Amino acid sequence: MKVHHLVLLACPECKGPFTLFSAGGEGSDEIETGTLCCQACRKKYPILNHIPRFVSMNTYSDSFGFEWGRHARTQYDSYTGTKISEERFFHETGWDRDLRGKILLEAGSGSGRFTEIAAATGATVVSLDSSTAVEANYASNGACPNVLIVQADLHHLPLKENSFDRVLCIGVLQHTPDVQAAFLTLARYVKPGGRLCIDVYRRRRGLLRLFQTRYFIRPFFAEMPPERLYAICKGYIERMWRVASVIHRIPRIGSRINWILLVPDYRDLLPLPEDLLKEWAILDAFDILAPVYDSPQYRETVREWFTKAGFIDAEVEYGYNGIEGRGTKS
Ligand SMILES: C[S@@+](CC[C@H](N)C(=O)[O-])C[C@H]1O[C@@H](n2cnc3c(N)ncnc32)[C@H](O)[C@@H]1O
Repeated sequence: MKVHHLVLLACPECKGPFTLFSAGGEGSDEIETGTLCCQACRKKYPILNHIPRFVSMNTYSDSFGFEWGRHARTQYDSYTGTKISEERFFHETGWDRDLRGKILLEAGSGSGRFTEIAAATGATVVSLDSSTAVEANYASNGACPNVLIVQADLHHLPLKENSFDRVLCIGVLQHTPDVQAAFLTLARYVKPGGRLCIDVYRRRRGLLRLFQTRYFIRPFFAEMPPERLYAICKGYIERMWRVASVIHRIPRIGSRINWILLVPDYRDLLPLPEDLLKEWAILDAFDILAPVYDSPQYRETVREWFTKAGFIDAEVEYGYNGIEGRGTKS
């Protein structure tokens, strides 16, 4: 972390300010190893490999650490040569492309494909994840002077409440143990007049649920070590790939059949060459089966959360990842 980012952090227990003890040389702005000590309650937190750490070693999000370690660059625009992440970021958030002078929180960054986009707006970006995905994010974005990467749980944030101009949480909420609680916690960190953007998987009603095969298959893989599950997913996608490209040609429903067969099929959605489509499919097959929690939501429920948390102008609609919501805090 950079010394000048210390002011962005606060003790997750008592919100007191930190004193920084660095193991490195004096005068450098970059801290590789050190300790943050709360001036109020005296709790201490380590900085390891440049990243302040606020979580214990094992969490329910460990599979994500594995996933993003394996696919550290797969979804980055700077890797695919596309604008897939950039377009999704601005489409979902509706935010300006120039956010200089603003402070932005990204909760659940994964490998950091959206951190890269957020950093390019010029905002000061605090990007956190509870898993070791932060290592992948640091490798790609840690050198940016306007990015602070933190390993922390969004339920116990080492940050000041009501202090962020923008809060972003994409692809994360359904993977938390209590989705409403996670939403309401994040909402507290948006400053009055600031904006929140989230998305969450969509819960289907009635018979349509039967097509969400992941929820029937996942219990068979629960508690499987991530290395083993990843090998199974990779082998499955490699064996199914040719069949899936034939199924894809079935008019209107081909792609849907592939998703039901748990072959993530982005052919009509993303402008990627064949090898990258397959790489994304392997990543997503694992991402579908590995999470400990996956709680899709109804649109009305998400609307209620925005109202409950005091957001005005909330727009909650169906979108790329299920349900997308954005609003301004009153
Ligand atoms: C599906 S990934 C999405 C990553 C990224 N936002 C993206 O869209 O590429 C979900 C991420 O949320 C993180 N996550 C889950 N629960 C969390 C929590 N309580 N606090 C912080 N991060 C969490 C996981 O570790 C994982 O990296």
